[in-house]
Amino acid sequence: MLDPKLTKAASRRVLAAAALLAASGASWAQGDPADGRILAETCLGCHGIQGYMNAYPNYHVPKLGGQKADYIVAALNAYKAEQRPHATMHSQAATLSDEDMQAIAAYFESTATVAPATADRLPQQAAACVACHGETGVAPSPAFPTLAGQYADYLARTLREYKSGERQNAIMAGFAAQLGDEEIEELAAWYAGQDGLVTPGLD
Ligand code: HEC
Ligand code: HEC
Repeated sequence: MLDPKLTKAASRRVLAAAALLAASGASWAQGDPADGRILAETCLGCHGIQGYMNAYPNYHVPKLGGQKADYIVAALNAYKAEQRPHATMHSQAATLSDEDMQAIAAYFESTATVAPATADRLPQQAAACVACHGETGVAPSPAFPTLAGQYADYLARTLREYKSGERQNAIMAGFAAQLGDEEIEELAAWYAGQDGLVTPGLD
């Protein structure tokens, strides 16, 4: 059974998040995927290699194939503004214009069709995540990232960063704060096991 207090807190946060997004006037990405493919050449040196690892600390470079374009743009802006700590991604993002980001994001999204599949048994603690990340981790809105198929070690690491405040996001800070280490590992493994994101090929 779900703790009703938790569920209530979660639904309050969903409403707060919706208000935040509306207030930010989030614009939907509209880049040209063909331009994006050309601009993404450097990115594919890491994001286009299956199983590629970030060194020190070691964890997988996240998959971007089929990721939501608006989320990719938001992520790049967060690296640019150093709301997310990663030196390489900061320097990559710092040189991109808004237009470049939109095109690159459109390209990565277009490399795979990620549709919600039949859910495996949802872990209990994922009930609080469904509203924004979908029943199987495929986000129903372009503003939220798809988690399905992402590398488990990356997901676990980033949840810990939300928890510690190293990765700054008002919405996710609250959700991550409620997760213990074991729950983080379990959720990360579950989302990673769903059909979803891919590594786009170097075609
Ligand atoms: C040297 C390897 C490398 C290169 C080149 C690189 N990235 Fe990354 N990228 C990473 C790593 C590692 C992460 C995870 C960083 C973290 O832990 O936040 C990442 C994270 C990201 C994320 C966040 C994904 C998510 O799920 O939140 C996006 C978006 C992204 N990169 C886009 C790009 C784009 C666009 C380019 C090219 C302009 C690029 N990257 C170039 C290694 C790289
Ligand atoms: C109210 C909506 C909402 C809910 C509910 C929610 N999230 Fe999120 N989540 C977001 C948003 C928005 C982002 C992107 C934030 C950012 O830019 O850093 C995000 C990002 C993430 C990321 C990072 C993805 C990536 O590619 O780097 C993970 C992992 C994640 N959420 C897991 C969870 C889990 C697990 C739960 C449930 C315990 C949850 N979220 C509940 C909105 C939500």
